[in-house]
Amino acid sequence: MKDQTAVPFVDTNIIPDRNVGIGSLLWDLQNPQHPNRNEPPLLNSRFAFIDVGVSRARVSTALKTLLASDLKMDVDYIATERVEAVPYANVTLLGDRAEQIRGCLSGTFSSKGATCEVKDWHFVVDLEGKVSSVAYSYHLHGNEVWEAYFMGRTFMYSGEPVEFSDPKLNEMLAPDVKKLEARIDLERKREGDPSQPAPSWEGYRVQRNPLEAGLAEFGITLQKTDVPQRIKGRQNVLFLGNVLNHYPQAEQARELERIAANMEEGDIGIVQVDEVEASSIEVLHVKGQGAQKTRERVRRVASSESVWRSRAWAR
Ligand SMILES: C[S@@+](CC[C@H](N)C(=O)[O-])C[C@H]1O[C@@H](n2cnc3c(N)ncnc32)[C@H](O)[C@@H]1O
Repeated sequence: MKDQTAVPFVDTNIIPDRNVGIGSLLWDLQNPQHPNRNEPPLLNSRFAFIDVGVSRARVSTALKTLLASDLKMDVDYIATERVEAVPYANVTLLGDRAEQIRGCLSGTFSSKGATCEVKDWHFVVDLEGKVSSVAYSYHLHGNEVWEAYFMGRTFMYSGEPVEFSDPKLNEMLAPDVKKLEARIDLERKREGDPSQPAPSWEGYRVQRNPLEAGLAEFGITLQKTDVPQRIKGRQNVLFLGNVLNHYPQAEQARELERIAANMEEGDIGIVQVDEVEASSIEVLHVKGQGAQKTRERVRRVASSESVWRSRAWAR
């Protein structure tokens, strides 16, 4: 392992619109302060950046703007998401009822002493036409933070399954979820058979295909896959921003192996993990080919107060 970089460490969830940590890390890889004799920089001036697991378009579009416009990097920016996690629609409820639910969300997520005033919220409809979560935003240290309330589903946090469900909130949401799913169902039936009645969307604002549309506005193509395809003719940087935390600890090394399967010699992997106890960014460099392929850990940035829990990601 080489020097640890002095890249400012930034949590993507806390400052979603400016992931400066990754921007300055890439800059540092292209312009090393103390280049080893005769060794080229680890990152070429021209590269493809594959942002793995983009649950929201805005995180990626902001990072692309930072790299391509602010830092003037010659980057081909691609995003990936698991097919089943790509939303069918975001649906915003309008009127008094939306205000009531906003109040209930604020109450649910405010803990003793800390108020979390929900500013904005919407339903997220999945591929199957079901409401999978409620996305809500609040302000934290002057930043807009978005989080998801999964409708009773388990999600992975710091490698552990967590199920957070609030009966009062579920009860509040239930009639609207039912109405909304019925409308989506009608809409889908009509897609297959135009003689079917069209649902009325009065009282709602519907944004269809929000992830793909939001990315396309910034020229980012979405690969709907859990094993990213490699971009030919350029060095590839595979960026896993809070993706491995989705998997139980014991499966993380194997999952990285799978996600990075198409990467080739000279490519770079960046693994960012924002956890309460141990946040870190690791840079891995792919060496060798085929069965000889290995990943060498070339940088590690860890939040200073945390005790670094070493993991077998580099092999
Ligand atoms: C916690 S979110 C992180 C979002 C964003 N990268 C960030 O740092 O804010 C993790 C996302 O990774 C996705 N994901 C998990 N495994 C994946 C895989 N193998 N390929 C693509 N996406 C994946 C999940 O569906 C989820 O949307």
